[in-house]
Amino acid sequence: MSNKHDLVGFFDSGVGGLSVLRQVRADLPHESLLYVADSGHAPYGNKSVELIIQRSFAITEFLLEQRAKAVVVACNTATAAAITRLRARFAIPIIGIEPAIKPAVAMTRSGVVGILATGNTVRSVKFAHLLDQHGHQARVLVQPCPGLADCVEQGELNGSRPRALLERYLQPLLSVGVDTLVLGCTHYPFLIPLIRQLAGIEVAILDPSPAIARQLRRRLESEGLLATGDRIGSECYFTSGAPELTARVMGQLLGQSVTLESLPERFRSVEIFSPASLATVA
Ligand code: DGL
Repeated sequence: MSNKHDLVGFFDSGVGGLSVLRQVRADLPHESLLYVADSGHAPYGNKSVELIIQRSFAITEFLLEQRAKAVVVACNTATAAAITRLRARFAIPIIGIEPAIKPAVAMTRSGVVGILATGNTVRSVKFAHLLDQHGHQARVLVQPCPGLADCVEQGELNGSRPRALLERYLQPLLSVGVDTLVLGCTHYPFLIPLIRQLAGIEVAILDPSPAIARQLRRRLESEGLLATGDRIGSECYFTSGAPELTARVMGQLLGQSVTLESLPERFRSVEIFSPASLATVA
């Protein structure tokens, strides 16, 4: 095996980042991809920022050990919490993802835009800056969606639980004329058919994955790292959670069977700093 760093690494709190990975697979067929689902710590949406930073560092270390040449933080919540520190610590290109407020504001016709995201994303300083930069040209309504990513994590894309949650989260937005919805969590693109059913076909739904794939290509090209040639890249998948459940859901989301490995033990648990001591979080 060569020691060359030739993989693109991805991570998310769980299976949501596969919405980004499948786009990258379609757009950059020669890249070999390695995905980490941190399902043992999902959801990130309600975890402490310290824990998310710790997990982001541990997984990035793992990806580098596996010869990553670039990392896609395929998670809005982890991007908001950790990307500045990751970029300061690691020298490889690190691509993040944040709610697509700018394009939504540019395309709304009703002048009212809705953002669906996790609680941690909408409470973050990064999100506040984003709103400040782009949120003035339209009315922007922010809707945290507790429980929604977990439905995707369990493979529930169309049952009574995601339907009831989405009805609750969409109703206040639609009732005031939102015509453009931003999916500010990488789990949510897997719920687009249900969102479309509930919101109607006139509402535009923005999935940022194509923009992330373009950004990744630009970065790889500018660093001379883009894979070329005839060879189709490989994919491999790791999880910190229960491999059987995660493999089943990943297979369901990608429409193909997935072989999943367990994240090595030393990258699985987290030591977080608490004022009193260093506590280990399972
Ligand atoms: N997929 C993630 C995001 O884009 C996080 C979901 C969660 O774990 O709460 O924010």
